[in-house]
Amino acid sequence: MAALASGRGTNLQALLDASGRAGALFEVVVVISDKPQAQALERAAKAGVETVVVQKKEHPTRGQFDEAMALAAKGRGAQLVCLAGFMRVLSPTFLSRFRGRVINIHPSLLPSFPGLDAQRQALEYGVKVTGCTVHFVDEGVDTGPVIMQIPVEVAPEDTEETLGARILAREHMAYVKSVEMIAEGRIPFPHPSLSQAPERGQ
Ligand code: GAR
Repeated sequence: MAALASGRGTNLQALLDASGRAGALFEVVVVISDKPQAQALERAAKAGVETVVVQKKEHPTRGQFDEAMALAAKGRGAQLVCLAGFMRVLSPTFLSRFRGRVINIHPSLLPSFPGLDAQRQALEYGVKVTGCTVHFVDEGVDTGPVIMQIPVEVAPEDTEETLGARILAREHMAYVKSVEMIAEGRIPFPHPSLSQAPERGQ
C-alpha cells in the first residue's frame, strides 16, 4: 500500500507498526505528502519507508498535482492507497488511476459530520455516540462505501481534545484491521461499485 498524509501521521504510524510485525499481511511501499514538514514523513523515514513530497504549488493544475501523486504510488507498485490524515479532496484524475482501491479514515460515524473538525461538530450537535469510519473513497468529501465503523460514547464533560483522543485510539485499530481484511480478501477489492470506468459522456 501507499499512504497519503498531510500531518502528524498517527494513523500512518499504526499502519507502519502493523506492517513491521512478523507475519504482517501488508507492506507500506511509499508515503506521499503534500506538506514537506509533515511529521508523517519523519515517521516513514524512521520506519525505512520511501517518502515523496508532491507540493500543489509545483503543479499548475489539480489534475497535474494528482497525476504526480498517482504516479508516485503506481511507480512503487501500490495496490491500495490509504489516506491517513490527507487533507485534500482527490480529483477524478487520481481516483481513475486507483479505481475502488483508495480508502480513508474519518473521525465520525459517517455520513454524520463529514469535512473538517468532525469531533467539534459532534460535540456541537450534542450526539451521545460518535466514532470513526473507514471507507472506500469516491469523488465526494468523506463519502463512499463503508468498510468499518467503531462507536465511541460522548461523555458530558468531553472536550474536543478528550473526545478526539478516544476516537483516535479507535481509528488506529480500525484502520489496521480494515487493511488486513482487504489483504485477506475478506472485503470486496477493488470495490465493485467504484472499479468500473464511467461510460463515455458521463
Ligand atoms: C485523523 O483523525 C483522521 O481521521 C482525520 O485526520 C486525522 C489525522 O490524524 N481525517 C479526516 O478528518 C479526513 N476527513 P493523524 O495524522 O494523526 O493520522
